[in-house]
Amino acid sequence: MLGGLDLEVPVVQAGMGGGLSRHELAAAVSEAGGLGTIAVGGAAAIRHELAAARALTGRPLAVNILLPFARRDWFEAAAAADVVVTFWGKPRRRTPGAWLHQCGSLAESRAAHDAGADAVIVQGVEAGGHVRGSTPALELFERVAGALPAGYPLLLAGGIATREDVARALDAGAFAAVAGTRFLLAEESRAHPEYRKRLLAAERTLLTELFGAGWPARHRVIANAATDRWLGGDPRGPRLNRVLNRLLAPGARYAPARLQGRMSLAQTPGSRLLTPLGPTDDGPANLLDAGALYAGETVARIDAVRPAAELVRALTP
Ligand SMILES: Cc1cc2nc3c(=O)[nH]c(=O)nc-3n(C[C@H](O)[C@H](O)[C@H](O)COP(=O)(O)O)c2cc1C
Repeated sequence: MLGGLDLEVPVVQAGMGGGLSRHELAAAVSEAGGLGTIAVGGAAAIRHELAAARALTGRPLAVNILLPFARRDWFEAAAAADVVVTFWGKPRRRTPGAWLHQCGSLAESRAAHDAGADAVIVQGVEAGGHVRGSTPALELFERVAGALPAGYPLLLAGGIATREDVARALDAGAFAAVAGTRFLLAEESRAHPEYRKRLLAAERTLLTELFGAGWPARHRVIANAATDRWLGGDPRGPRLNRVLNRLLAPGARYAPARLQGRMSLAQTPGSRLLTPLGPTDDGPANLLDAGALYAGETVARIDAVRPAAELVRALTP
C-alpha cells in the first residue's frame, strides 16, 4: 500500500520534466494498471494536465514536482493528484495525500522517511535525467531497505527497461519499479521525434553538469553538439560554466516561464549558459543540439518506440 493506494501492476512511470511526460503518457500508463506521472511546471499547467488525464482514465495518477523550481501554488494544484512525487530538495510534507520523495542516498532516504513520506523512491546512478546520488540502484536499495523499518514501502528507479529488471527490483523487496527512459520511448511521450531517433541509436550516456543554468546538478544525457563542444576535458563541463550555473541558481525559482523560454530559444551549442530543458515535440528544435538529451543507461538496451500500455504489460513480471 502506498499511502492508501494499491497498484494493480508494480510499475511506475517516472515524471519527466519540462513537459516530456504529460497527460497522454501518464493516463495511458495508469489505465494499463501502472502509475503514470505528469511532470510540468506551473500551477495552471499542472491543473490542465491533471484534468486532461482524468478525462482519459479513472485510475490513480501522480504529479511530479521538482523542488528547486516549485512555488506554493504548484503544491495546491498537485494536491488534486492521487500521489505527489517530489525530487531534489529537503523532504517536507506539503500536500495531505500520498507523498513520495525520490532519494539518491541512505541519508536522504532516512530524512524523507522521518519527514513522513509515504514511500521513498531509491534512485540509482544509472538513471536518466537528474541524478541525485552515486550508487547503483540495487546496491543503494539494499542499503536503504536494511536501514529503514521493515514494511516501509520503497521503490527502485534506475536501470529498469525489461520485465527481468522489474523482477530483480521486486525480489530485492521493492514495492514497485520506476522507469523513465523506457517510457520516454513510449508513443505517448512528448519527446521530439528527432530526440527519440537519437535515443534509439544511442549506445552510451554521459553524466554531466553542462545543462545546469538555474539548476546546477548532475544529469545523465546522450551526446549532442553541445556536449561535443564543451565536454572534451571534463565530463562535468568547464569550471567557468559551472560557476555561472551556480550563480544563476537562486533566480531559477523566480524567473518567469517566459524568460526561461526565451533563454532556451536563444541557446546554441556554443552558449556557456545551457538550460536544463529537453526537446519536446512542441518546443524549439534548437534544443536537439543545444539542450539536454536526457537518457538513462538503459537507452543502450531499448530499440523501439511502443505504446505505453504495451510497455506496462512488457514490464510486468
Ligand atoms: C527524460 C527524463 C526526464 C526526467 N525528469 C525528471 C523530473 O522532472 N523529475 C523527477 O523527479 N525525475 C526526473 N527524471 C528521473 C526519473 O525520476 C528517474 O529517476 C529515472 O528516469 C530512472 O532511471 P531510468 O531513466 O533509467 O528509468 C527524469 C528522467 C528522464 C529520463
